[in-house]
Amino acid sequence: MDVYEAIMKRRTIRRFKDVPIPYEVLAKCIDAARLAPTGRNLQLLDFLLVDDERLLSEVFPTIASWAQTPRPSGPPPGHRPRAYVVIMIDTVREKETGGSRRSTQVDAGMAAENLILAALEQGIGTCAILSAVESEIRQVLNIPAKYEIGVVVAMGYPDESSITEVYTTVTKPYLDEHGVRHVPKRKLEDVLKRNKL
Ligand SMILES: Cc1cc2nc3c(=O)[nH]c(=O)nc-3n(C[C@H](O)[C@H](O)[C@H](O)COP(=O)(O)O)c2cc1C
Repeated sequence: MDVYEAIMKRRTIRRFKDVPIPYEVLAKCIDAARLAPTGRNLQLLDFLLVDDERLLSEVFPTIASWAQTPRPSGPPPGHRPRAYVVIMIDTVREKETGGSRRSTQVDAGMAAENLILAALEQGIGTCAILSAVESEIRQVLNIPAKYEIGVVVAMGYPDESSITEVYTTVTKPYLDEHGVRHVPKRKLEDVLKRNKL
């Protein structure tokens, strides 16, 4: 699968098979994330991999919203993520190096996409998550105050499929009667501006 094909194919997955992901597969995803571009090459991100069975069940309830539906929502037991990666910003090193939060937040997004594409190539579905309740996930995972949580990526072998369709009036993805998610995307000609506006 080439990179463009992977990008076209990728859709968020929120329902997973109850199959553990080998550590080597997960480590490869984080390896891809660590090589993403970072502002001034400061590399102020650390990656907390959660794949312990008990912790997985403790992280899940900290997620406040799945597919824009407030908790309790999201996949039922037996279909929940089999790993999470918490992409964390080291705010102490950020201060020491004169890094800016704007830059490190962009870094976190770039790292997340690298991770997501490396996962896709290995057959793993992902869901980027910003709605993890910070105080709760911190407590569950012992994350010290020096880290700001950039984004969490939920991972697992896909147990749903998703169709990309052309956006007309709503951007919100929806499920059809077969449980297939439709994800409206704006057309290239609507988003691509060339030279001056
Ligand atoms: C910054 C960011 C935060 C997100 N947070 C959540 C979240 O908290 N819960 C969730 O179910 N999906 C979340 N998503 C996934 C989006 O809902 C999803 O990317 C969007 O619906 C488009 O679908 P696609 O990824 O299949 O293109 C997030 C995505 C991004 C980029």
